[in-house]
This record gives sequence, structure tokens and C-alpha cells, in this order.
Amino acid sequence: MINFGKVAVLLGGHSAEREVSLKSGAAVLAALQKSGVDAHAFDPAERDIHALRDEKFDRVFIALHGRFGEDGTVQGALELMDIPYTGSGVLASALAMDKWRTKLVWQAAKLPIPEFEMLTEQSDWQAVVKRLGLPLFVKPANEGSSVGISKVKREEDLQAAYLAAAKHDKLVIAERFVGGGEYTVAILNGRALAVIKIEPANEFYDYESKYLRDDTRYLCPCGLSAEQEAEMQQLAQQGFAVIGGQGWGRVDFLRDEQGKAYLLEVNTSPGMTDHSLVPMAATQAGINFEQLVLQILESAHVG
Ligand SMILES: Nc1ncnc2c1ncn2[C@@H]1O[C@H](COP(=O)(O)OP(=O)(O)O)[C@@H](O)[C@H]1O
Ligand SMILES: [Mg+2]
Repeated sequence: MINFGKVAVLLGGHSAEREVSLKSGAAVLAALQKSGVDAHAFDPAERDIHALRDEKFDRVFIALHGRFGEDGTVQGALELMDIPYTGSGVLASALAMDKWRTKLVWQAAKLPIPEFEMLTEQSDWQAVVKRLGLPLFVKPANEGSSVGISKVKREEDLQAAYLAAAKHDKLVIAERFVGGGEYTVAILNGRALAVIKIEPANEFYDYESKYLRDDTRYLCPCGLSAEQEAEMQQLAQQGFAVIGGQGWGRVDFLRDEQGKAYLLEVNTSPGMTDHSLVPMAATQAGINFEQLVLQILESAHVG
């Protein structure tokens, strides 16, 4: 095995997803230690990030989610300290946090995305409904965990949905409803792993069905034909590459009733608990959790 030197696992942090990150980080730390790596927990909410340099850490495994961890800021600090870290760099991390700009990039690359438009206080709600149809989705460009998202079924509810989303972000998007199922594809060192189908317990994959309910179903194998699965994997690799993703991540998809796949969003620092989706897809490829964590750590880089 490679000698990784002294490794910090970044976990917790200041984001709304702190609790999930503490779980991801604990699982990663335990796996690294089990493999004999000199790994230590490091919570940037409790300590100055520069201690990583002063304490001579050789590598960092980023198990932070959300702002100040998944958004390019921590990546930038690590670049300046010249400490290799896992996952995407500054640009892809920041870009993937912004759903609107991610969509613009994918659109320019001619990748399939659900039709969308920006909403403002002055939007003509009737015209939006006419263009996108009902139901439609309204979401803040920069939150995660389904916070501030609504499925709008009636035109008269659109403005309230806008205001709810605008509480979380200045940028609010309306999106055409794509209703043929939800899928996710893990990327590991340039390779797309098996597709997972997500069957939310609620009407859509909202906060409750993500974190609070245990009856959301995750299917792997996902039930698509080999050809359809390969097509989605290819799109995942392209979608990840176009935003400049590195190392590992997860690309989420929707399918319509005709079976056309649409890119939904990229997670550049996905969950790593033993219940998380990337570990689930890795298992399907014969990669256990310890091996997965080592493979991610191997790809640590600066720049
Ligand atoms: N255009 C859409 N059509 C159908 N369902 C959607 C659409 N956009 C979002 N959803 C549902 O809402 C969930 C959360 O939306 P998403 O854009 O992934 O935001 P988040 O970053 O909060 O996860 C998705 O997992 C899906 O269940
Ligand atoms: Mg999502």
C-alpha cells in the first residue's frame, strides 16, 4: 500500500449539513485507521484550517458537505498551503454548488437538462406556467438537501413557492417537471459506477425522505436495461468532466416517461456513511468501503 503519511479527515464544518458530515467523516476515519493509515479527525468549525500546515499533514480527505467544504473555499485554502486533497478543485466545487450556472455550462455543452428559467419578483407567473407546464419545480440555486424546494401544482401557488425559495438564495429557478424516475451515478477516478434508482417515500425526494424516513428505496441494480444504464453512465462522466470534476463525486438524474435522461445536479463531496449512495454503488463493483476510501485518498491532488 502507498504510504500516505499523516492524513487529516475534514469533517463537521460550518454548513447546514454539519451533522451528516460528522457521520461521513467518522466512517471515513474509521476505514482509514482500519487500513493502517495515520489518519486524524479535523473539524474546521473547531480549529483554524492553517493548523493543517503547522501540524505537517501530508494529505487531506475532505468529508465536508455544503458551504465551506464542498464549495471551493476549503479547496482554495488547501491549494495555498500546498496540501493534496481529495475530490474536485476550486472551480468545479464552486460551480457545482450553483445549480443555475451548472445548468448554463451543461446547456452550452449540449447535455440534456430539464427546461428551466430564472424567477424574479417581477416574473409573469402565468407566462412561466405556460412555458414550463404544471406541475413545475421551484428551487433556490444554492441550497441543498431539498431546502426551499417546492413542487408547484397550481399557478396561484407559484409566487408563494418563489418567495419560499428566495428566502434561501437570491437566485431562484423554475424547472419543468420530469416524472419518470430519479437516478444517481457515482464517479470514481474517471469511471462511472452502477446506476442507483431512488424511490422516495414522499412525493419527491424532499428533506424528510432524504434524512428522516427510512422507507425511501435505493435500487442497485436499478432496473434499466444495460444499454440505458450505459447511456446514463456516459452522460454522468460527461456532465462531471464538463464542470471540471476530479477524483470522485455523484451525478443525479431524472428520467421522463419516454425514458429520456436529464442531468439534475452534481455533488462534489457526497455522503460517505455506510448508508450512502457512493459506497452502495462501489459495493456493486466489488469495492468495499475501506477500498473505496483508499482509492479516493490515492487520487488526492493540488491544482
Ligand atoms: N425538474 C424536476 N422534476 C421532478 N422532480 C424534481 C425536479 N427538480 C427537483 N426534483 C425533486 O426534488 C429533489 C431535490 O431537488 P434538487 O434539484 O436535487 O435539489 P437539492 O440540491 O436540494 O437536492 C430531487 O431529488 C427530486 O426528487
Ligand atoms: Mg438533489
